[in-house]
Amino acid sequence: MDYVKFGIIGTGAVWGFHKLGSKKNPKIKFISAYDIDERKLNRVAKYSKLETYSTLDDFLKSDIDAVLIMVPHYLHRDIVVEVAESGKHIICEKPMATTLEECDDMIAATKKAGVKFMIAENHRFLPAHQFMKDIIDRDYIGEIFLGRTYEGAYVSPDQFLDPNSWNFTYDKGGGGVVADQGVHKFTFLNWLLGDVDSAQCWLGKATSSPPNKGEDNAIILLRYKSGAMITVDLTSVSIHLPTNRTELHGTRGTILEDHSWENPIRVLSSHPDAEVKGEFYSPSIEHGPFPQYYKISMGYEDAYFAECILEDKEPEFTPEQAKQGVAVVLLSYLSAKKGRITTMDELMKIYKTTGTKSVLKDLESVTQKNYGKMQWK
Ligand SMILES: NC(=O)c1ccc[n+]([C@@H]2O[C@H](COP(=O)([O-])OP(=O)(O)OC[C@H]3O[C@@H](n4cnc5c(N)ncnc54)[C@H](O)[C@@H]3O)[C@@H](O)[C@H]2O)c1
Repeated sequence: MDYVKFGIIGTGAVWGFHKLGSKKNPKIKFISAYDIDERKLNRVAKYSKLETYSTLDDFLKSDIDAVLIMVPHYLHRDIVVEVAESGKHIICEKPMATTLEECDDMIAATKKAGVKFMIAENHRFLPAHQFMKDIIDRDYIGEIFLGRTYEGAYVSPDQFLDPNSWNFTYDKGGGGVVADQGVHKFTFLNWLLGDVDSAQCWLGKATSSPPNKGEDNAIILLRYKSGAMITVDLTSVSIHLPTNRTELHGTRGTILEDHSWENPIRVLSSHPDAEVKGEFYSPSIEHGPFPQYYKISMGYEDAYFAECILEDKEPEFTPEQAKQGVAVVLLSYLSAKKGRITTMDELMKIYKTTGTKSVLKDLESVTQKNYGKMQWK
């Protein structure tokens, strides 16, 4: 097999980035598409030159090796299970699911079917993030004790204000900005720092969104088992193009990273192999501010998954790691509900007893409403 034949489920906003990212990759061919919205399906399929199917069953019988799933979060579990049963390999968009139990069902179904399964967490595949992981592993900044990270993406207010769109709802989205964007940061930070011990979270709404919609802003303070303390700032309503920043301080140096910079990383390190000593330097890294970094990271992510299929190897980014990202989302929400610091052990007790879906209930009442006091201009 020289290339992987992919089908797609869901022809919404994120498809464009995957399409652009893999455009020049000879190991990936997108063949077929399925979407419950036939009008959208036909429009997108025509433009992307894909065969269309009007049922999931027929789509799964098409001549494909793997499926890229890009549907609302509450559907991830059921669709992954159904695709796994058809024997196709699966790459499914983040967040893995809305609860830990759904993640477990997805892991069990894909293991039983013996198919490759990876969550499309593009932050694991950004060259800037891979560079950070590499120099941390090589001890360039020593033991990390402090940091902060920010993800800000301007999302059309309609997505918050329209109660009928699935985005940012508790039931279909699994929550607001913490579930939708926070999961990127949590998965990335876990990769660099290991497991989270405890969290303190505040949720806020700067737009007057209906009660079925989650927070559009959040701050989470995370303490890792390693002892590192990190602030995570999230917003979906900041008026700038989507961007990300991470700043990490260790016993041997500092890394500053900002996706809005042309050259996204600055390092200060006392490591003997550091390019420059005693001052910040910017290594050359493949990058471009939005929309470039979406396209670049999704291109690498899809290429890596295709490589795993072609070379019959298990993805290094495991579904269990993706599940840990969902666990930090739920831990953050649990803290907001309790109004205090909560530990991962407390969340695990809920997981073993009432179930983690209970964490998503009644979050609206603990979300601070700021919109009444401010004027959007
Ligand atoms: N990695 C990133 O940076 C990034 C960016 C945007 C979105 N995403 C993720 O991609 C996924 C999709 O997001 P989106 O913004 O494209 O959403 P979207 O609402 O634009 O598109 C979702 C599509 O799924 C279709 N759909 C709904 N129910 C379906 C069903 N039962 N069967 C088949 N199709 C169905 C809808 O008709 C729609 O076309 C989400 O998991 C989201 O978090 C990731």
